[in-house]
Amino acid sequence: MLFMVDSADLNGIKKCNEFFPISGVTTNPTIISSAKSDFKKLLLDIRNIIGEDKMLHVQATADTAEEIVKEAEMLRDFVGGNFYIKIPITEEGLKAMSMCKARGIGVTATAIFTQQQALMAARAGADFVAPYINRLDNIISDGVHVVEEIVQMFDKQGIKSKVLAASFKTCEQVHKVAMVGAHSVTINPDLFSTLIYHPLTMYAIDAFESDWSMVYGDKKVADLLAE
Ligand code: G3P
Repeated sequence: MLFMVDSADLNGIKKCNEFFPISGVTTNPTIISSAKSDFKKLLLDIRNIIGEDKMLHVQATADTAEEIVKEAEMLRDFVGGNFYIKIPITEEGLKAMSMCKARGIGVTATAIFTQQQALMAARAGADFVAPYINRLDNIISDGVHVVEEIVQMFDKQGIKSKVLAASFKTCEQVHKVAMVGAHSVTINPDLFSTLIYHPLTMYAIDAFESDWSMVYGDKKVADLLAE
């Protein structure tokens, strides 16, 4: 399962890019707006941080297929590198997905809440479909179950589209979508740190340091080898 950063916060993206094995960054209009900065500069800054090879997913804001495709082409040319246009699942969106695929533009179908939306988007050529886990859980639906059925449906029907599970609030949600076969998740920078935190890990590291220092003092492995 691939990890992506769902954020436009440059410090958060920098940290995740430096320390975590991320495959890309995803944004949406809410995330971009929350940065309250120049749109073009923000996109270039994100691209500069992650480089050309990692995925950058940016959402179209137009309503009609033709306008969405125009935005997709402009964004692809402007952002460069490994780029995906995010398109919400609407009738115009589906038309735009097919048109973007025909033009060789990577497509992520977003705002997915049902299995049939995912199937339709996949048939329209979406490379990724993005179901919103926490928002499903918040309406007493079951985000993990939706992901599970999309994965099964794609497997059974030989569909190559990947699930990019989005909208997470907890580590448990991330773990459970991993267990049902999500191909990728996009999560906020804070959740990356929470996913690897465990007090027993910290306890073990403290014990290693304490035991080591009783014999070798302040010297580290490199100091001893260099003597
Ligand atoms: O990128 C879309 C998705 O991650 C939305 O997340 O937290 O606004 O439900 P959230």
